[in-house]
Amino acid sequence: MNNIDFDKYFKPDLTQARKRSKKQVEEVQFHMSEQAAQIGHGKTYKIDTYGCQGNEADSETMAGILELMGFTKTEHEENADVIIINTCAIRENAENRIWGELGRMKNYKRQNPNLILGLAGCMAQEENVVERVLKKYQHVDIVFGTHNIHKLQDYIQTAMFSKERVIEVFSREGEIVENLPKVRQHRFKAWVNIMFGCDEFCTYCIVPYTRGKERSRSKQEILDEVKQLVDEGYQEVTLLGQNVNAYGKDVVGNDYTFGDLLRDLDQTGINRIRFTTSHPHDLDQKTMEAMRDCKHVMPFFHLPVQSGSNQVLKKMNRHYTKDSYLKTLNELKETVPGISVTTDIIVGFPGETEEDFLETMDLVDQANFEGAFTFVFSKREGTPAAKFEDNTPEEIKKQRLYLLNEKINEGYLRGNQRFLGQTVKVLVDGVSKYDDTILAGYSEHNKLVNFKGDMSLIGHIVDVKITVAKTWFLLGEAV
Ligand code: SAH
Ligand code: SF4
Ligand code: F3S
Repeated sequence: MNNIDFDKYFKPDLTQARKRSKKQVEEVQFHMSEQAAQIGHGKTYKIDTYGCQGNEADSETMAGILELMGFTKTEHEENADVIIINTCAIRENAENRIWGELGRMKNYKRQNPNLILGLAGCMAQEENVVERVLKKYQHVDIVFGTHNIHKLQDYIQTAMFSKERVIEVFSREGEIVENLPKVRQHRFKAWVNIMFGCDEFCTYCIVPYTRGKERSRSKQEILDEVKQLVDEGYQEVTLLGQNVNAYGKDVVGNDYTFGDLLRDLDQTGINRIRFTTSHPHDLDQKTMEAMRDCKHVMPFFHLPVQSGSNQVLKKMNRHYTKDSYLKTLNELKETVPGISVTTDIIVGFPGETEEDFLETMDLVDQANFEGAFTFVFSKREGTPAAKFEDNTPEEIKKQRLYLLNEKINEGYLRGNQRFLGQTVKVLVDGVSKYDDTILAGYSEHNKLVNFKGDMSLIGHIVDVKITVAKTWFLLGEAV
């Protein structure tokens, strides 16, 4: 394999991926040829998913395509015919884990030379990743990105019959593809994409490069999907987008935005509506009022703040200040009384001083978050922040993370304690791993609740009286 023709492949290009065209995105319908629909009969597949809910949803589409091709799902990777690794590029440690997995797959390929190994997702959109796969991971048969999942059947066909490697990654987003098949992981909770891409360009973040420009799905497609889920017995939908508060803003001459969508979805008959993620600077009064008025929109909001220091927020390109964030948050809490709010925070951003970090700690005190995902800044090649001067020692960054997490955990506990003695509605997910008479599910405020009950309650919404509040969960009794 010394004379690989690297130029015959469609490789990603981060400079292209940065560009944003003004062109309105077209909608096309997914189609599978009869020939492709025969290929997988008698064969099995496995998909390993890393990353955010967006990736989980993409894996459900990949599974849908593979099952339409006739493949059946297996949990045993050692004798699978197709393995796809759907990757995440958000932080370096996420990528390192995946490189390890890819290395491990070499054995399976040795045991079964007919195995087709595919690399998909956000890492596939990175130039350096594809170069490394081409040179050092020759057991990977297919590399495809986030913009061409709907062509998976073609790639499998080529890899299977022409025994050629398929490397096809588009740097620019194409159409919005509708009518995609899906095999959903869950029987009563579903992901529903409402938009793709991100135009925010926070300076630390790779997502605008790996997911392309913001494109909203049409209101009708979203409503139809949710109505169908209701017919199939689904209880809860989580609306997905990197910045759901920007829904509809990419469509020229359109004033139908996220708040309107929430109101329409509230009428579909679905019991619970959640969404993730929101950007504070796009969160408007219309959305808050829709949350207040819509019975089925859950009183829970994940509103990433990233930092409490104005200087850091500016360098992150976040378009708000500590005070304006707190003001938005207070408006939200006044409009939707009792709402539970969680956040994302990065410590150790390049140039973050001790004072900057203390501003973050102070913001956490004032915001009264009931949970957070916290991270140490990770350098992403190709993003502006990768070039920022960063001379804070790793040790200090870790210490900041530790101090922050202690404060955040107090918030988790306070958030749980406020439900002591109250009766909350729990959508029962399943039984505890250790005891199948203990049920687990989430309350409307997204609190994990455990209680004793019969397995027949799984998939139902049950009233539970809270008797014990711990940091990570609540205990209660069905009433
Ligand atoms: N669109 C979502 C976030 C997606 S990424 C939003 O804006 O909320 C999820 C979280 O990962 C981000 O909120 C941020 O806190 C964190 N993150 C993103 N890039 C990072 C990086 N380079 N280093 C550390 N954390 C990062
Ligand atoms: Fe990344 Fe910022 Fe977009 Fe979120 S809003 S995906 S953090 S660029
Ligand atoms: Fe990761 Fe891509 Fe999601 S980088 S967090 S899988 S958008």
